[in-house]
Amino acid sequence: MANLETRSEVNVLVMAAGLGTRMKSKRAKVLHELGGLPLIARVLRVAKSVNPRSIVVVVGHASEEVEQASVAEAGELVQFVLQRKQRGTGDAVATARDLLADSDSVVLVLSGDVPMIRASTLETLLDHHLKTGADCTILSARLENPTGYGRIVRDERDVFQRIVEQKDASDEERKIREINSGIYCFNSRKLFRALSQLQPANAQDEYYLTDVPEILLKQGANVSVYVHDDAREVLGVNTRAELAEFENLLRRNTIRQLMTEGGVTFIDPSHAYVSSEAVVGSDTVIYPGVSIEGKSVIGEACVIRSSSRITNSHLGKNVTVKDHSIIVDSEIEANCSVGPFAHLRMNARLEESAVVGNFVEVKKSRLGKKTKAMHLSYLGDATIGERTNIGAGTVTCNYDGKQKHPTIIEDDVKIGSDTMLVAPVRVGKRSVTAAGSVVTKDVPEDSLVAGVPAMIKKKLDSSDSGS
Ligand code: UD1
Ligand code: CA
Repeated sequence: MANLETRSEVNVLVMAAGLGTRMKSKRAKVLHELGGLPLIARVLRVAKSVNPRSIVVVVGHASEEVEQASVAEAGELVQFVLQRKQRGTGDAVATARDLLADSDSVVLVLSGDVPMIRASTLETLLDHHLKTGADCTILSARLENPTGYGRIVRDERDVFQRIVEQKDASDEERKIREINSGIYCFNSRKLFRALSQLQPANAQDEYYLTDVPEILLKQGANVSVYVHDDAREVLGVNTRAELAEFENLLRRNTIRQLMTEGGVTFIDPSHAYVSSEAVVGSDTVIYPGVSIEGKSVIGEACVIRSSSRITNSHLGKNVTVKDHSIIVDSEIEANCSVGPFAHLRMNARLEESAVVGNFVEVKKSRLGKKTKAMHLSYLGDATIGERTNIGAGTVTCNYDGKQKHPTIIEDDVKIGSDTMLVAPVRVGKRSVTAAGSVVTKDVPEDSLVAGVPAMIKKKLDSSDSGS
């Protein structure tokens, strides 16, 4: 392994200016997501892991969005150069001339559309490059079906000669199965000198970065090829069909790892989706059709039933999510039960052993310990205490057409079925609202209210409220 000092002389350059015509999309290709992360972010995450001095991203199409996604992943390590017209990969690299040409560094070139590459592979490539003292090292791989890729042309002694693109290749050359991954190490000065000599004399009228190795060879430089044995890692995304294959591959890897190392049960691993960013505790059981997205954290011994979606949410231990529930940006503590058909969103919080049942929506609300809302309710902007029962059909009327207002329901309250709580409103401890109440004024502690709008009928003994 190369040591840290040599590592600090590496600059990474990521080509990400293209639109990606074959994606048939208005969005730039590198913004399409794989496993919930834009392609560019995946590449940058791997780039960071080799501890480069800097990362230069060549942007063009949708430059603002690509820059935003890049900064979100790599922060201040990343710099941008703009390639106004996409005149080829050689031209893309040349736009970074002012930033990189005068440094005595290794330039590690990556493609924004080759997202499965692993950090350890880049380390090995860099090691190979440094050990062989090469001026250029190409990462290659052998593919069953090399169609579309640049091919590595070798002479009869197996010595590298040049790279030929699919569109420029002869029938004979198209039979070559060794492909150019689009990932390379270069001596920076020699790279930029060779780039000045590129000519767009090819089928696509483009400046090909792939012509640089041949130019270097002719100048007597040392060009090396490192053949990587895991071809799947170096595949590029050019179409949505390929993107879907990658998604599948990534998903299978994530799920296999959760089963073998994480002790998670999948009833049908081929019909579950778990983001590679998510954490799932051991002895949790995941049913078919479940999606666990983003940076979700699921505790131990949870049960997530069919067709539920959990996005960027935290679940404690022993939580049951029944079928067809949606949980977004929310937090659920241990021993809670949610669903079926529940919708929790915008920082809904369930404290320990709370229960949310069928057709209940909870938005920006907190339910205290052991509080239950079992059926057909909307709880929005509400703060609900412990051991409170929310009857079927309860609605927090939180919106007056202009503003949202809070509802506060204290501990040990019984909200009768079909109660409308017209916010802002508070229901005091141990109080009861009768079925069908429309509560427009605060209810003091230990009171029974009823009617439309509800008026105080009597003062309750604490024994009446039955807690
Ligand atoms: C390229 C290689 C090919 C290799 C393949 C591996 C060339 C000429 N060909 O082909 O040998 O097998 O990658 O995946 O390099 N880009 C720019 N500016 C441009 C053109 C491209 O930034 O002017 C970016 C694209 O956004 C993309 C990357 O460079 O991220 C590769 O470009 P793409 O057009 O996909 O090249 P391939 O045809 O796949
Ligand atoms: Ca490509």
